[in-house]
Amino acid sequence: MTVPILPTAELHLHIEGTLEPELAFALAARNGVRLRAADVAELRRAYAFSDLESFLDLYYELTAVLRQPRDFTDLAEAYLTRAAAQGVRHAEVFVDPQAHLSRGVPLEAVFEGLAAAFVGAEERHGISVRLIACFLRDRDPAEAEALLPRLLPYRDLVIGVGLDSAEVGRPPELFEQVFARAADEGLHRVAHAGEEGPPEYVRSALDRLGVERVDHGIRSLEDPSLTARLREEQIALTVCPLSNVALRAVPELGAHPLRRMLDAGLLATVNSDDPAYFGGYLHDNMTAVTRALGLTREERLRLAANSFRASFLPEADKQRHLAALEAVQAG
Ligand code: ADE
Ligand code: ZN
Repeated sequence: MTVPILPTAELHLHIEGTLEPELAFALAARNGVRLRAADVAELRRAYAFSDLESFLDLYYELTAVLRQPRDFTDLAEAYLTRAAAQGVRHAEVFVDPQAHLSRGVPLEAVFEGLAAAFVGAEERHGISVRLIACFLRDRDPAEAEALLPRLLPYRDLVIGVGLDSAEVGRPPELFEQVFARAADEGLHRVAHAGEEGPPEYVRSALDRLGVERVDHGIRSLEDPSLTARLREEQIALTVCPLSNVALRAVPELGAHPLRRMLDAGLLATVNSDDPAYFGGYLHDNMTAVTRALGLTREERLRLAANSFRASFLPEADKQRHLAALEAVQAG
């Protein structure tokens, strides 16, 4: 059974995680960067992970091929082409500025390169795009605080801040100050929490960072009172099923908590996280969970509607996308 593609918003996608092995080698050749793997096949074989950290080691290593603005443009264009074919109509894309600054790549190269692809993406690909700049939680919070004002000149594109990288031992409250400043600037706030870390990290992201959405949040279900709060407040969770299996946060797709999240009335969405590494883009995730968890058409429509509701789009745009989904439902 093929699963029909639905118009959807992608709310959890790291642009660096869309680097396919073929593009990694093309950019390595362009920039004279030597990769450890000899060829695409060998690189693909390295895409087998035991946990989040083992993945992040390769993810950061491969950022070495991204050096000039046009590298970021090519990366973003490749993502847009794939996403458009999978029903994505709006994307709130994560970028990790510190992963590039720490290698000597200027912030301007990152944002100018991404802007060349993302500004005008609606006309060229039918996808509106905004960026969320993530702070790396395994680096000094002072670095995040220094970065925040440098993001402000890019506010046309950058609508919010996030928190990602290795989670365990790096609780959200370490970043309370920079998130408070981001709030003062009127930026949206999200954070990865409860991917590998405990439910307390989800509480801390909500209470100490004031996040409007939780990225992953799958371990929230271990705590019934947190689960009740997420339901009552309808706090969105950006769930990434293929990622969770690839990084062994979940043993197999058939055991994925998305089924229980939906049954518990949570505002869950399906997303692709780092699709080049985890075996698929947005609709590939939707197809895989549909098969593994027996999602109904109504549940898929609910997930797609949740994605627009949970987005940071202006209300009128949300309503336009929801109306398009209803037209699909009626058809
Ligand atoms: N950076 C890229 N992907 C990530 C993930 N799934 N969790 C935390 N940090 C990330
Ligand atoms: Zn992520």
